[in-house]
Amino acid sequence: MQYPDFTKEYKSLMAKYLTREVFEELKDLKTSNNFTLKDIINSGVQNLDSGIGAYAGDKESYTLFAPLFDKIIEDYHGFTKDDIHKSNLNSDDLNAPLNYDLDKYIVSTRIRVGRNLDNFPLGTAISKEQRDEVEKIVSNALNSMDNDLKGIYYPLDGMSKENSESLIKDHFLFKAGDRFLQTAGLNRDWPSGRGIYHNKNKTFLVWINEEDELRIISMQSGGDMQEVFTRLITAIKELEKKMTFSYCEHLGYITSCPTNLGTAMRASVHIKLPKLSQDMDRFKTITDKYYLQIRGVDGEHSKSVGGVYDISNKRRLGVTEVQCVQDMYDGVMALIEAEKLLEK
Ligand code: ADP
Ligand code: ARG
Repeated sequence: MQYPDFTKEYKSLMAKYLTREVFEELKDLKTSNNFTLKDIINSGVQNLDSGIGAYAGDKESYTLFAPLFDKIIEDYHGFTKDDIHKSNLNSDDLNAPLNYDLDKYIVSTRIRVGRNLDNFPLGTAISKEQRDEVEKIVSNALNSMDNDLKGIYYPLDGMSKENSESLIKDHFLFKAGDRFLQTAGLNRDWPSGRGIYHNKNKTFLVWINEEDELRIISMQSGGDMQEVFTRLITAIKELEKKMTFSYCEHLGYITSCPTNLGTAMRASVHIKLPKLSQDMDRFKTITDKYYLQIRGVDGEHSKSVGGVYDISNKRRLGVTEVQCVQDMYDGVMALIEAEKLLEK
């Protein structure tokens, strides 16, 4: 393997930190699942506009290729190799009371976590047989959920185009053909082994074998973050009784993309900010202060429609789950205050 020709167009953290020295040190290494440096960086090499540009194949990738991953992780999360991750799944510790403004400006609230099964490689390095086995383990566990979490698993293979399109349009299902996932090896054997589970009201959903083996999602219309968070925690705890998730003391929950490590949590709202979004500098000053990220309404790499934005926590590692949601709540309150000032 040759050192990639990182031209000026490359913006990713991978391109920034894969110096010639680091490359020489890592280029011949291979994890026990045969994942190599070439596999790790392929998505970032193929997609010049990647922000991160690296995916792990397994938990071991993060230690074997630490000279690259540690730098990316520190840059994205502000978390150093000597820091320890802490988890807090106690929803009573969240301080997110619902008020009139939240319900007025927030269209919907969604919180998801990524999870992967211990003793399996990540989706980037998994074989078809292993992926099918993951689908079986997870869908069987889900099919025995009770009460509010009770639902049905719908495999992607065999789903009608109308059904999948309407689930995507309504923000419930992942899109096909993402070029970052494609070049990371995450779309191999598509659509086999992939699917979505949801309860009747579509407030509890699980994606199987997308970027991570599980994406556990709680969502509903309006701005009640406490209710959405509490439902998610109940679901995570139920699933933990039936399977073991890949976790390590230092990095928390293991995910294929280093941005999701730790809590693997993205807590987001779709929020109407038509005035504030006219002044992007002001908008970004507030989101930066509260460690928030701005996305469009159709998810990552999409645009805003009608002044509605997806606002979510950026930090996921070195902060607890409660803190992730608290970042979002506090920042959203500040965004609403700024929008109200502009209305006057
Ligand atoms: P992820 O949440 O896994 O990082 P995306 O940014 O691609 O991935 O979003 C996945 C889907 O979830 C998209 O259809 C997006 O519109 C939807 N979504 C995200 N946040 C919300 C929200 N607060 N309300 C409704 N839909 C949401
Ligand atoms: N690989 C893409 C990039 O580097 C996405 C990174 C973060 N998003 C994600 N879905 N993991 O820009």
